[in-house]
Amino acid sequence: MQGVGILGAQWGDEGKGRVVDFLTEKAPVVVRYQGGNNAGHTCVIGNQKIVLHLVPSGILRPGRLCLIGNGVVVNPQVLVEEIARLKSSGFLENEDRIRLSDRAHLIMPYHQRIDVLREERRGAAKIGTTGRGIGPAYEDKARRSGLRVGDLLDPEEFKKKLAVNLEENNAYIEKVLGGKGFTLGEILEPFLDFGSKIRGLIADTSRILDQEIKKGSRILFEGAQGSMLDLDHGTYPFVTSSVTTSGGIFSGSGLGYGRLSLLMVGVTKAYTTRVGAGPFPTELFDKTGDRLVEAGGEFGATTGRRRRTGWLDLVALNYASRLNGLGGLALTKIDVLSGLDPIRLAVAYRYKGERLTEFPADLKILSECQPEYEDLPGWREDLGAVRRISDLPPAVRRYLARVEELTGIPVLILSLGAERGQTVVIRDPFEV
Ligand code: GDP
Ligand code: IMO
Ligand code: MG
Repeated sequence: MQGVGILGAQWGDEGKGRVVDFLTEKAPVVVRYQGGNNAGHTCVIGNQKIVLHLVPSGILRPGRLCLIGNGVVVNPQVLVEEIARLKSSGFLENEDRIRLSDRAHLIMPYHQRIDVLREERRGAAKIGTTGRGIGPAYEDKARRSGLRVGDLLDPEEFKKKLAVNLEENNAYIEKVLGGKGFTLGEILEPFLDFGSKIRGLIADTSRILDQEIKKGSRILFEGAQGSMLDLDHGTYPFVTSSVTTSGGIFSGSGLGYGRLSLLMVGVTKAYTTRVGAGPFPTELFDKTGDRLVEAGGEFGATTGRRRRTGWLDLVALNYASRLNGLGGLALTKIDVLSGLDPIRLAVAYRYKGERLTEFPADLKILSECQPEYEDLPGWREDLGAVRRISDLPPAVRRYLARVEELTGIPVLILSLGAERGQTVVIRDPFEV
């Protein structure tokens, strides 16, 4: 395969960043194609921990080209700060390795304010967004009144478009949400400043991608969020506002179908987590749940919120597999399960006496589903130092074999710790 898509197969935070970081050893180009700085992708290299929100995780290896595609929504301040942080921590010598699509939409300060005010108004029914203005930015895009990165290149035009967009959004903030709007000056000056700082990065990233494909470069597509947060297929309305499933790669990076051979790899934890509200059938409210939070360090990389935890859900994983066309799995955080016995796998749901194996669209049904579990024996060994599949305890191998059987997808990569090297490659996805 020339291309590999790294996609969240659950509700986000599966370890996509760390899988991408590992695989960039063999790939010179990484593309982000949806979402924005709601994402928090953690990579640990030695004793250095880096959390990336916008820049693809490929940036952590010298020479890798990182593209931020048209489908991403970009808060330019966050980008400028992230680049500065990468420079000061020694990961980025100059900005030549980052290119930002001129077609990507901008997240404006009023988008963020709308996001926060709307969540406050929803009260108990809130979605639990990251408060980064993601939804409102995509709304403006769909409404055809959004501002794009390329608009920053022409200050006069930018000012005109901003005036129109601001008027609409101020009216909404003030009249509907009862908040305080923005003045043009408050936004214009800082945005023109961001524009001058990122001017050199702005490009037609779809074209650059095409040139790299023609050169024969291997390409990694770095998904953000997870399949169950997909705007169409996720647990709507408790979802994000972008296409997180594999279709998003094409529209969000300007890649034509069939331009390169592409394998979709779903990243899944060996258990499940969710941050924010919405149904979560295998959620645990007991000591095992707390233990997963503690052993797995389950606190959000973007907002610091405690993640909800539960057992691995094969109904959801099989749904994600179908939606994405998964050809392989990257299974992360298997080390966190050490010491738990039994280890449970949800193989179906029970709803009013009926056995369901398909993920329901109706949230009322989903929230009443009881998981049907299959129990597997646990293991006590610390897995952090394992580097070969043959060194895994038999119970772990049995667990892996059962996950492969129940999903029909091979586990290609196993992650046994947060550090870059704590990885076992069972089969290289570029060689599949
Ligand atoms: P992403 O958003 O999918 O990139 O994932 P996050 O970075 O938000 O969350 C994954 C968390 O798990 C981070 O803190 C990682 O450092 C950590 N992590 C990733 N893989 C492993 C693993 O195999 N074992 C352990 N213990 N931690 C891991
Ligand atoms: P990464 O890429 C986990 C969740 C939020 C909320 C919902 C909508 O790190 O896996 P939004 O701010 O997008 O409007 O919030 O989606 N969410 C994530 N959860 N990981 C993420 O990204 C997420 N990005 C958004 O918690 O439930
Ligand atoms: Mg994350």
